[in-house]
Amino acid sequence: MTDRSVEVWTVRLDPSDHDVAALEKLLEPGEIARANRFVFEHLRRTWITARAALRILLGTYLGVPGESIRLKTEPKGKPALDIRGELLRFNLSHSGEVALFGFTRACEIGVDVEQARPMDDMGSIAERFFHPEEARELLALPVSEREAAFFRCWTRKEAYLKAIGEGFFEPLESFRVSFLPGEPAGILRIRGDANAARAWTVHDVESVPGHAAALVYRDAPRPVRLLPRISPDKLLQLI
Ligand SMILES: CC(C)(COP(=O)(O)OP(=O)(O)OC[C@H]1O[C@@H](n2cnc3c(N)ncnc32)[C@H](O)[C@@H]1OP(=O)(O)O)[C@@H](O)C(=O)NCCC(=O)NCCS
Repeated sequence: MTDRSVEVWTVRLDPSDHDVAALEKLLEPGEIARANRFVFEHLRRTWITARAALRILLGTYLGVPGESIRLKTEPKGKPALDIRGELLRFNLSHSGEVALFGFTRACEIGVDVEQARPMDDMGSIAERFFHPEEARELLALPVSEREAAFFRCWTRKEAYLKAIGEGFFEPLESFRVSFLPGEPAGILRIRGDANAARAWTVHDVESVPGHAAALVYRDAPRPVRLLPRISPDKLLQLI
């Protein structure tokens, strides 16, 4: 990865029993305890796979074994490297059986992936949570275009909230993204400020079939490299 590129990985979260056992060995005791708190076994397996994938991928960038990497959690939940002076930044998202990871150097990054699915309450979610102009634009679209637009808007907004590390501590209506068909991806205003919004770049990630996904980082456009989707057993071969 060059200093300014962004690399995006997609990992399938459908491990075999053998994969889960091997991936779990890369986790720290606190991570295993967190995995074991899931009531549903499939959630425990997907969480272990995503966390181990994060460690393996970080390990390939840092040139160290994934299990040796020290991770911390920032105050509002964003995971980060606990290594003084390290410039590598990352973020991850999972939905259904897919996890998405974004890596870059020296600039904050956020990613979000959501399984595209019919949502009966799309309009009311938009009116309650989105910026009022976003809700208006969404509801003015022909019904046939609304679902794709909703997920574009949602994933771009969540990826921004994850890039700044705020998650849901920052209201979704405090900033405005583009999402209409054919409109360039971007953040249009942050608390009414178009200049502040120009510091950020937004890309849609179109490599996950059946899902909407977005990538946001704080810099002018960087070259983005989408890596082919990998399965848990292929992930283990990267060790
Ligand atoms: C952080 C947040 C945005 C997570 O969103 P999410 O869609 O539930 O989950 P994702 O799979 O995209 O992301 C989860 C990962 O983000 C990371 N994360 C957690 N808090 C974060 C934060 N504040 N900033 C950046 N990343 C964060 C973690 O790695 C987490 O993975 P983990 O649980 O395996 O540790 C959270 O604030 C949230 O709960 N969102 C709810 C989503 C929703 O209901 N949206 C309504 C429609 S707009």
